[in-house]
Amino acid sequence: MPKTTTATLRQKKADGAKVTMLTAYDYATARLVDAAGIDVILVGDSLGNTILGYETTLPVTMEEMLHHTAAVTRGASDAMVIADMPFMTYQIGKKQALGNAGRFLKETGCHAVKLEGGVQMAKTVAACVGVGIPVCGHIGLTPQSVHQFGGFRVQGRQVGQAKRLLADAEALDEAGAFMIVLECVPADLARIVTERVEAVTIGIGAGAGCDGQVQVLADILGLAGERVPKHAKRYADVGKTIAEAIGAYKSDVEAGAFPTDANAFGIDEGVLAELRDKD
Ligand code: KIV
Repeated sequence: MPKTTTATLRQKKADGAKVTMLTAYDYATARLVDAAGIDVILVGDSLGNTILGYETTLPVTMEEMLHHTAAVTRGASDAMVIADMPFMTYQIGKKQALGNAGRFLKETGCHAVKLEGGVQMAKTVAACVGVGIPVCGHIGLTPQSVHQFGGFRVQGRQVGQAKRLLADAEALDEAGAFMIVLECVPADLARIVTERVEAVTIGIGAGAGCDGQVQVLADILGLAGERVPKHAKRYADVGKTIAEAIGAYKSDVEAGAFPTDANAFGIDEGVLAELRDKD
């Protein structure tokens, strides 16, 4: 059991203690995130953009997510690990969703799954919860619907949209989702949702009134290029540090400054002498 469970997260909400969540996609990074004491690691399908070089999350497959989620789970001892269900691996019907959600828990050792959608997905969420699979919902700007939205836009600014978002949150809550991600939603609306639902709300671009926050690790570490999304804050410029280190290595190799004797392995003089005698 990880230290963070659905029960400890619910307790945090009750106590008014903020929940921390970050993405990770591999063993080494998961170890760092886990060691820092982050509550929840999300193996987001942002894997598609940040690691696999796709333009959107739509092409991400089950096999890719299973592979990366298993690596993250091996690196996390205390954090809860949530796996994102890829586009069209849960929308076709409850049977498909149950099969794929089950694969995540059985084959990767993760503790919960995340899927996008509200009212439309409520029955699917209830079916997963009913067989013991914890589900995190995701509403607001859901990246798998980017073509439907016509771009990456803040959701819930108009009355109709805001009412739909509230209905989505309530439907997920009723269906038993233990957590709901609110992405790019006006802060005051996210606060209302947080007050109305039992589920733990996690914001990304949804203000400080949510029960917790999630960020894409590459955005806060400076690994996603120069552009920092409005909802993110850059805590380090790891991309620059890596580029400088690689440049220094290249220069050293080209100048003969690396490796030195300290990086090389010796051989017994007698063995060398025998080799020379044979020439
Ligand atoms: O895929 C992802 O990383 C996500 C977060 C942005 C919430 O869904």
